[in-house]
Amino acid sequence: MARCCQLLTGFLLWALLMLSWCEASRSSINGYDHHHSYGNFKSKNLIKRRDDGTRLKSFARVSSLPPTTVSVSDFGAKGDGKTDDTQAFVDAWNKACSSSGAVNLLVPEGKTYFLKSIRLNGPCKSIITVQIFGTLSASQKRSDYKDITKWITFDSVNSLSVDGGATGTVNGNGETWWQNSCKRNEAQPCTNAPTALTFYSSKNLRVNNLRVRNAQQIQISIEKCSNVQVSNVEVTAPADSPNTDGIHITNSQNIQVSKTVIGTGDDCISIETGSQNVNINDLTCGPGHGISIGSLGDDNSKAFVSGVTVDGAKLSGTDNGLRIKTYQGGSGTASDIIFQNIQMDNVKNPIIIDQDYCDKSKCTEQTSAVQVKNVVYRNISGTSASDIAITLNCSKNYPCQGIVLDKVNIKGGKGSCSNANVMDKGIVFPQCKST
Ligand SMILES: *[C@@H]1O[C@H](CO)[C@@H](O)[C@H](O)[C@H]1NC(C)=O
Ligand SMILES: *[C@@H]1O[C@H](CO)[C@@H](O)[C@H](O)[C@H]1NC(C)=O
Repeated sequence: MARCCQLLTGFLLWALLMLSWCEASRSSINGYDHHHSYGNFKSKNLIKRRDDGTRLKSFARVSSLPPTTVSVSDFGAKGDGKTDDTQAFVDAWNKACSSSGAVNLLVPEGKTYFLKSIRLNGPCKSIITVQIFGTLSASQKRSDYKDITKWITFDSVNSLSVDGGATGTVNGNGETWWQNSCKRNEAQPCTNAPTALTFYSSKNLRVNNLRVRNAQQIQISIEKCSNVQVSNVEVTAPADSPNTDGIHITNSQNIQVSKTVIGTGDDCISIETGSQNVNINDLTCGPGHGISIGSLGDDNSKAFVSGVTVDGAKLSGTDNGLRIKTYQGGSGTASDIIFQNIQMDNVKNPIIIDQDYCDKSKCTEQTSAVQVKNVVYRNISGTSASDIAITLNCSKNYPCQGIVLDKVNIKGGKGSCSNANVMDKGIVFPQCKST
């Protein structure tokens, strides 16, 4: 009898434990999703994202041991701003990547590490947090770049965090590259310059509390990645620095960008083909070229972008505000896009869809186009810096479908629309009737 009661009590205790564990994991999943806002058409993606979130959390729970720390200074990095620390970083990365459990790869505060192009490859045995508390400073010599399009690259790493703490900075020292750009100096041939920070073919990434400055070209690029959270990131470069997109997203899924401040010479955020379920909130942008979906469909290519939500943004003094740009002659779709709760001050093209984009010298009108459909502009207010506020320049053969202007109020410019199927809700100013 006593033995049976012990068994029963034991079982009940176990059941209680299991219950509280389940509850804990459920609330952490909810916590993960808490800040997202979704359009109705995204419920499928929502479920997929939850799965990813669960995996990330349970992965972290398995490694209950405290993280070990690997410092780049243990591998000979000087941090004097002159000595080439590239090999020390690679060695420290290899050590961190081949360890088991959780590892902090530390870049100490108060020092500047000079780096040539560097590729940090996974997959890793460990779960790495790269603590960039010091400054990473880029070489300005072309010959120091094995691949001229990239400075720092993380390739094929799963469950990676990059945390800049209160001080961490990535500095591309872009001035010399900008001077040699054909956009600044027409006598120069148009060549590539490195992207400062590339995340390539990786899953479950977090980038937090980081400052990225003066990239040679694109500042942060997310390519072929999924389940990425970027937050509290500050990206800066002068307004006249050529091609310095702030955050460039291509061929990537389930991306969350929040609490970011971007002032740069090109798009604050650019979203290109193959990207689905991209959520941006609490963005401050300017100077720069605004938020851009595209360019899509260059060289007659097929492009697909869907499920983009920008919720909560302030754009000041930018060239464009909310732009969708597709090349003549492309195909595919840009669909299910929501721009809402956005303030724009002194923006040259606050709302623009340009389906006839063409940057070659000779542009002959082509019949094919990337289809733009289901785009909502809701609660958008502000001022135009030009005589135009809303431009929907859609193609004759593939008119824009399902465009909703809902409580839009942009002062100081007119509306110009062609081949666009537009529905107005609430007060819309200026009016934009298709011609
Ligand atoms: C509209 O957007 C602004 C930001 O531009 C925000 O402060 C405001 O709360 C939004 N209004 C509603 C009704 O959501
Ligand atoms: C719209 O596109 C046509 C080409 O189809 C072009 O000629 C025109 O200049 C464009 N208008 C605007 C306002 O961009």
